[in-house]
Amino acid sequence: MADTATEVTEKKSGNDGFVPQFEDGRVRENHVRPGAPIPPASAIDLDNLDITDPELWLRNEMWGRFERLRNEDPVHYCPESAVGPYWSVTRYEDIMAVDTDHKRFSSASGITLVDLDEDFSLPMFIAMDQPKHDVQRKTVQPIVGPDNLKNFEKLIRERTVKVLDSLPVGEPFDWVDNVSIELTTMMLATLFNFPFEDRRKLTRWSDVATGRDNPDVCPGGEEQWRTELLECLGYFTELWNQRVNANEPGSDLITMLAQGEHTKDMDPMEYLGNIILLIVGGNDTTRNSMTASMYGMNLFPKEFEKLKADHSLIPSAVSEIIRWQTPLAHMRRTALEDVELNGKTIKAGDKVLMWYASGNRDERHFERPNDIWIDRPKVRSHLSFGFGIHRCVGNRLGEMQLKILWEEFFKRFDDIIVTKEPMRTRGCFVKGYTEMEVVLVPKS
Ligand code: HEM
Repeated sequence: MADTATEVTEKKSGNDGFVPQFEDGRVRENHVRPGAPIPPASAIDLDNLDITDPELWLRNEMWGRFERLRNEDPVHYCPESAVGPYWSVTRYEDIMAVDTDHKRFSSASGITLVDLDEDFSLPMFIAMDQPKHDVQRKTVQPIVGPDNLKNFEKLIRERTVKVLDSLPVGEPFDWVDNVSIELTTMMLATLFNFPFEDRRKLTRWSDVATGRDNPDVCPGGEEQWRTELLECLGYFTELWNQRVNANEPGSDLITMLAQGEHTKDMDPMEYLGNIILLIVGGNDTTRNSMTASMYGMNLFPKEFEKLKADHSLIPSAVSEIIRWQTPLAHMRRTALEDVELNGKTIKAGDKVLMWYASGNRDERHFERPNDIWIDRPKVRSHLSFGFGIHRCVGNRLGEMQLKILWEEFFKRFDDIIVTKEPMRTRGCFVKGYTEMEVVLVPKS
């Protein structure tokens, strides 16, 4: 799941900072130097655009470029990126066409732009096609079945209450670490029945899994990435061994995988791959939606007033914030045959990025797409969970965590003030925040 946008192609050059370069040393003219001004979208040559440029994502400057792509070149070919050529699909309808066409668009070569390493390939069912995908997905799906969700609700509420009650009131603190990470990590620990005191290891492995090429996460590059993931495998192997022969069928993900007919013979790398999938799937996405909830309501105060006045709008607001945030900005597919899409011919073997972040802002599908509008019509029609056979397994669980957070928030606080622009993640796969300072206003 390494994130391509942060390919290690930025090398030190004299005193003038980092220069984005290709592996062979050529300067990447179409990437912005860290900290340098970003040319306006209207000034760029679309033929030369590489929308995966990490600086665009770090500084939230990709929107104008996506708008131009949707209007002028909705199925766009980027001939040269750090990992070769790729297509960008940016309109809602076209994304839907690719996502639901799993016969011609395969996930088996990977779901991010980086190809899987042959000797460290981490097979996981999100990066598989039918029939293997389906049987592995079915093995873990009961974890979010209706009965389990009902049981989780009480636990999630108790934990949310505990976390919210522990927060400082009237003084600044980091919402990401104290709330978003804490709550999602606790949830993950429950899904895996993971030793609770070690739960922050899950947070770290989640960051590492998508951060191979991100110097903020893995300054030691690929070597550090492999080492830490192998530590993850070691830890989870012990848990597998403890549970594989348990007499009672367990209701946690590790027992389900260890005892499942279609997963019990997985080799270690496949086990690690699926563990990583479940960690990242349940962690980054919900975490960043929790931060986006508070940030978004600060950016759209009239919507916040609406929500404060009518709590029955919470479920709809949750969906709208997940659309607006789009915590996973894209998924990749690989064409299995030549396909015509919106006037372009995608050749067999080409990589195709479905930009959910752009489809969710497509003015052809959504009115006022850049605004949060908590009671917008057809609010659940967003692309943030994908569509088709890989549609998010945990979507109801993620929504439930966010709903409970708002319900318990309103019992305690009148307001939350975001005091500084949040710090964002670097990269174009996980779209989120690393830090957000806030001040809570208690209920009067
Ligand atoms: C706001 C929260 C969440 C968002 C935005 C989100 C987003 C996504 C997306 C975009 C996909 C890929 C869809 C596709 O390729 O068509 C996906 C798949 C997946 N998600 Fe989530 N997710 C969230 C929460 C969760 C949670 C809480 C879990 C925990 C169990 C989870 C587990 C998974 C799994 C296992 C897959 C792979 C499904 C498959 O390949 O069949 N997700 N998610």
